[in-house]
Amino acid sequence: MGTQNAPLRLTDYRDLAAGHVTRPVWDFVDGGSGDERTLAANTAAYDHRRLRPRILTDVDKIDTRTALFGTPLATPIGLAPVAYHRLLHPEGEVATVRGAGAAAALTVVGIFASRTLEDIARAAGGPLWLQLYWLRRRAVLEQLIDRAEAAGYEAFVVTLDAKRIGQRLRDMRNGFTLPEGVAAVNVDPAVMAEAHQAHEADSAIAAHAETSFDRALTWDDLAWLRARTSKPILLKGVLTAEDARLAAEHGVDGIVVSNHGGRQLDNAVPTIDALEECVQAVAGTMPVLIDGGIRRGTDVFTALALGASAVLIGRPFLWGLAAGGAEGVTDVLRLATSELEHTMTLMGTPTLADIDRTAVRP
Ligand code: FNR
Repeated sequence: MGTQNAPLRLTDYRDLAAGHVTRPVWDFVDGGSGDERTLAANTAAYDHRRLRPRILTDVDKIDTRTALFGTPLATPIGLAPVAYHRLLHPEGEVATVRGAGAAAALTVVGIFASRTLEDIARAAGGPLWLQLYWLRRRAVLEQLIDRAEAAGYEAFVVTLDAKRIGQRLRDMRNGFTLPEGVAAVNVDPAVMAEAHQAHEADSAIAAHAETSFDRALTWDDLAWLRARTSKPILLKGVLTAEDARLAAEHGVDGIVVSNHGGRQLDNAVPTIDALEECVQAVAGTMPVLIDGGIRRGTDVFTALALGASAVLIGRPFLWGLAAGGAEGVTDVLRLATSELEHTMTLMGTPTLADIDRTAVRP
């Protein structure tokens, strides 16, 4: 890669990635639901946030280290759960976790990973969590939880904003299907086959959800999951104080403020605008993570200032994976973390603990 094209910011990786994948795969990754209003709003909501830098504090050394549930992390920036990394690189999730490990960052592996949980764990150099969709067949979930625990996954993230798959027009127009050799290898093939037969007309992804996700699920069902694992459980897809409070009341260990990167309910609130009410509702009892639209070190900083314990990035690491495999993922994480360090220096906050609400103009 010549210096002229060397990526200097996360979105530079977007341009690089575009040349490495087919149009339907690009649309699957890049797109959102409906008119893509929430997709656009997630990033736009950071544009008008303004920071309040402080002077004359000692910022000779900047420290981005943190910990979640006792696990030390070099950076508060982790990788969001994403299905089918093999769409973007032949090694798929194995390349992703190798890249994240080199940056000592957290990876949340998706239930629809295209490599086995065990292969991923063997390649990992950093902590792994597993994302689950709540499938109707609880026996499949039970097996996944057991396998994940045996392989060393440290927490479970249950995604709850996808009772139906968002209306993704680009995928519908493209008739998006998974290419040969890319599959959700950890989920019982019977579950997937059932889904495909029932919904041949939809995109492949929508078909999975329509048939296999439990739409009757309520707060009471969380007790079932709680009884099955002693690992931390996080709920992903929380956007309101009401649900954040209910999460705290139902014995979960953390929440992820997320609108699925604008891929589910269009017109859902941008995540950075939903963060503060969720943080206030849990009142320090559990970590609150956030994802959606984070493209800059200043965005990470803003989220931390408004009360996030850590942030997750989705599309940016997929761009790195497509453009450069494991190294691309490492580079995206390093770039984002070095932008955060740069911001912390100019803001006068040498450690994450120094960053608070006063850093962002109300
Ligand atoms: C996702 N996301 C997602 N979330 C989840 O819980 N399970 C999944 O299988 C997937 N799959 C998935 C595929 C692709 C291609 C994308 C882009 C996203 C959502 C993801 O975890 C996260 O919420 C968003 O990607 C965050 O927004 P940004 O960083 O992409 O703007």
